[in-house]
Amino acid sequence: MRSFIAGTGSYLPERILTNADLVGMVDTSDEWITSRTGIRERRIAAPDQASSDLATEAAKSALKAAGIEAGDLDLIIVATLTPDYMFPSTAGLVQRNLKATKAAAFDLEAACTGFIYALTVGDQFIKTGKYGKILVIASEVLSRFIDYEDRNTCVLFGDGAGAVVLVPSEDGDRGIVSTHLYNDGSMSDLLIAPAGGSRMPVDEEAIAKRLNTVKMRGNVVFRIAVEKLSELVDEVLEVNGLKEEDINFLVPHQANLRIIKATARKLKLPMERVIVTVDRHGNTSAASVPLALDEAVRSGRINPGDMVLLEAFGGGLTWGAALVNW
Ligand code: ACO
Repeated sequence: MRSFIAGTGSYLPERILTNADLVGMVDTSDEWITSRTGIRERRIAAPDQASSDLATEAAKSALKAAGIEAGDLDLIIVATLTPDYMFPSTAGLVQRNLKATKAAAFDLEAACTGFIYALTVGDQFIKTGKYGKILVIASEVLSRFIDYEDRNTCVLFGDGAGAVVLVPSEDGDRGIVSTHLYNDGSMSDLLIAPAGGSRMPVDEEAIAKRLNTVKMRGNVVFRIAVEKLSELVDEVLEVNGLKEEDINFLVPHQANLRIIKATARKLKLPMERVIVTVDRHGNTSAASVPLALDEAVRSGRINPGDMVLLEAFGGGLTWGAALVNW
């Protein structure tokens, strides 16, 4: 049995932070940011908005698209590396906000690959028949964990949320065809927020050194991302007995336009078949894939019958893909 994506939704905070705004904050330029990353602007959550608020808005729009009532949901999974609290879970807060009283709820953390991981977990619950209506959300308020004096990271990230509703497929072919997950913990230090967990609680020294914010060895992560995503494309095609031309759309993680283009080249896909939002959203970590997917579905680019490859790479290091027969 396949899991069918019955509806998609997303939410972006109103405030826009442009490259020009950042030029006034750190030693950078619009030319550097656009040529190295493809990013022109990103969204920043309002002071009173946390991940559960963005997640709730994205969830409402996905439920509406799917024609499913919150009260009928069996499970809510929220992928996030920027939860409202250490505990309770952000998914639990979304459950409360939606009044999804029947639903179990938990968070899942796999950094930028979080949505692919959460979609895979949801897919298993559908396949086993345990649950029939699952909300998979990815939501990030990364701006709270960024050092806006560090030009290496502050130009990259933005806030947002995306969601999908999973149900059992009524048509044998449509739905999630295969999922592929990886992690290499030996490279965990390459992309990390060192303080704020049980190893290094946030204290005065941590704050002074801004150790509670994202630290990244960007150029090393870049090389590994291109290599691992290329291997992943080979695996997805081989496992499913497909050729490059069988893939109609690529919905990649939106970290860097150069990484996206490298994966598109590997798939021999023209850029009009690649969903790109990094220019307007920046890197919204786990939320980037469902945000891009929702935009592509709502604008009518992705349609029933399209073979869609979702992929992501991020902290962990983690990487993964899901192939969906839309
Ligand atoms: N403005 C101007 N110069 C800058 C900026 C900036 N904002 N940031 C860095 N530089 C400088 C560096 O200091 C360096 O200068 P130097 O040569 O004098 O030392 C130079 O630019 C080149 O730096 P690199 O890091 O080598 O630049 P690169 O071309 O690799 O681009 C980037 C950096 C955009 C971070 C890229 O490496 C990247 O996208 N990496 C992958 C990110 C990613 O995919 N992360 C995973 C997901 S995130 C998650 O999981 C939370």
